[in-house]
Amino acid sequence: MILKALKKIKFILKSMKIAWIQSSILSNSAFILNRLRGEIIRNTHSIEKGLSLEHVKLGFGFIKIKDTTNYISKFLDNGGSWDDISIKMFFSALKEYLAFHKKNGFSNKDIKWINQYYETNYHKVLYFDNYGGIQVVKKLSFSDEERHLVKRIFYTRHSAREFTKEPINEEHLKQAIEMAMHCPSACNRQCYRCYIVDKNNFTKLGDWLSGSGGFASELDKVLVVTGNISVYRPEEMQQWLITGSIFASYLSLSLHVFDIGCCFMQRYVIPQKGNSSIMNRLGIPLDEQIICCLGIGNLKDEYKAPISHRFDYTDIVKKI
Ligand SMILES: Cc1cc2nc3c(=O)[nH]c(=O)nc-3n(C[C@H](O)[C@H](O)[C@H](O)COP(=O)(O)O)c2cc1C
Repeated sequence: MILKALKKIKFILKSMKIAWIQSSILSNSAFILNRLRGEIIRNTHSIEKGLSLEHVKLGFGFIKIKDTTNYISKFLDNGGSWDDISIKMFFSALKEYLAFHKKNGFSNKDIKWINQYYETNYHKVLYFDNYGGIQVVKKLSFSDEERHLVKRIFYTRHSAREFTKEPINEEHLKQAIEMAMHCPSACNRQCYRCYIVDKNNFTKLGDWLSGSGGFASELDKVLVVTGNISVYRPEEMQQWLITGSIFASYLSLSLHVFDIGCCFMQRYVIPQKGNSSIMNRLGIPLDEQIICCLGIGNLKDEYKAPISHRFDYTDIVKKI
């Protein structure tokens, strides 16, 4: 009984420590540019979402747009550049927002204010066409053959723990990562980051590979996936783990398409003793949280993998 209570207290104290660390990161002035970039992209995305509705509300979003202009001022005051990708996204979306209102013959004092801001500042941003706004997406209908191919990709991916000795084709790896970067992300903030650690640098990973179950020596590289914390607001606690995990799952499939075998390697996601020195050695900023590692290498023509039997559909899915 006492032991149970002590365990509980230990868990609560540890959780408090993590909350303390994370809230310090979320308010740390060293990461102000990331924080502001997060806000600018978040609000840009609001404009985009507003414009993509079937029935666009004329004059929508003034407060968010005005807030964003203040974020941009702060961003510049803190050393940010007019050419930052977030500002390009914002100006591009704003251009479309104004064009939309002009086309619909709508104006009021807010729209005039926005127009004035845009006209005064747009030339300071070098090139921003197609960085923001909306796109018209044509529905694609996939043939049975194409569906079969995608199904084959999903069903033939297995966690691989043995690989050939040849190094991975770097161009293929780049393409696989770029494919995975097309995953959804909360308000398009793309908090995921990916560190490619070559086997020559595995010592930098400290003891992270020791718990992998004995296949670390087979790996060509380890991809460390992290989530940037400071692009989120405090009330969005732990959201960076979700978008980061979605990126990692896309990655496990895109790597497979390029014949790169991979196995997730579970690491402690919460800050642990030793984590900070590993992050330091890998050059991972303090405002990122480790999400997972993927051990990768070239697939052999044949390899053994656990059956990893799946539950039945009805075990997983409940119709409400
Ligand atoms: C978050 C996560 C952590 C994992 N950690 C490990 C690990 O540390 N070592 C390992 O050998 N496999 C690890 N795996 C792989 C799982 O064992 C494997 O995905 C599961 O059994 C399903 O098999 P499959 O990937 O071959 O379909 C991990 C998978 C996930 C998603």
